[in-house]
Amino acid sequence: MKLISVLASILLATTTWAGLKDLNSQTSPFKLAPLPYAANSLEKAIDAETMTVHHDKHHQAYVDNANKALENKKVSMIEILKTASKQPTAIRNNVGGHWNHTFFWTVLSGKAEDNQIPETLKKDIEKKWGTFEKFQTEFEKAGASQFGSGWAWLIRTSSGLEVVATPNQDNPLMDTVEKRGWPILGADVWEHAYYLRYKNKRADYLKSFWTIVNWKQVAEYDQEATKTQMP
Ligand SMILES: [Fe+2]
Repeated sequence: MKLISVLASILLATTTWAGLKDLNSQTSPFKLAPLPYAANSLEKAIDAETMTVHHDKHHQAYVDNANKALENKKVSMIEILKTASKQPTAIRNNVGGHWNHTFFWTVLSGKAEDNQIPETLKKDIEKKWGTFEKFQTEFEKAGASQFGSGWAWLIRTSSGLEVVATPNQDNPLMDTVEKRGWPILGADVWEHAYYLRYKNKRADYLKSFWTIVNWKQVAEYDQEATKTQMP
């Protein structure tokens, strides 16, 4: 019985969506997919308890509250994000929260081979920032200086790569941001993402974040973003 439920969760985790476009087209009522790895597999940077509470409680609450706020309306994620400025706060925040967290779990990995950045993306980053370290500093700065809760992002726009930050559960696909673009990497800088281990030291959490980035996945998102028009 246990084996069946493990197989079912693997199947659900791998078939729920296959890329950015696919995530955007998920429709309500939304469902919480299991984490795509064990909660203790990111210990290099994030402890298992944080991962469990973050996924099972916080992400679940975004899903439940999004469904509640949408009542029985069937609507895709991107329809909400694209019109975020006109949406009631509860819909904007909770659908944003569901999109952001679903995406976030996939850009993390405890596997050393996923943590290696593919050359093509690395070269693109170096072209934009001069060195990979300068990009990291800018990303960390964006996350650390976001007042209150929010996210730091690496995005692909029609004019290249950019680092941006958004407050609350907003994201770069929303019509509320200054610079719209495809998110290809995101770091949750809400206290619930790091407080148990790092307490008030958000900058330390962001430094450790690099040890668990799934660059293989980020590069795949980047390839998709490069050839897909912004919705
Ligand atoms: Fe979060």
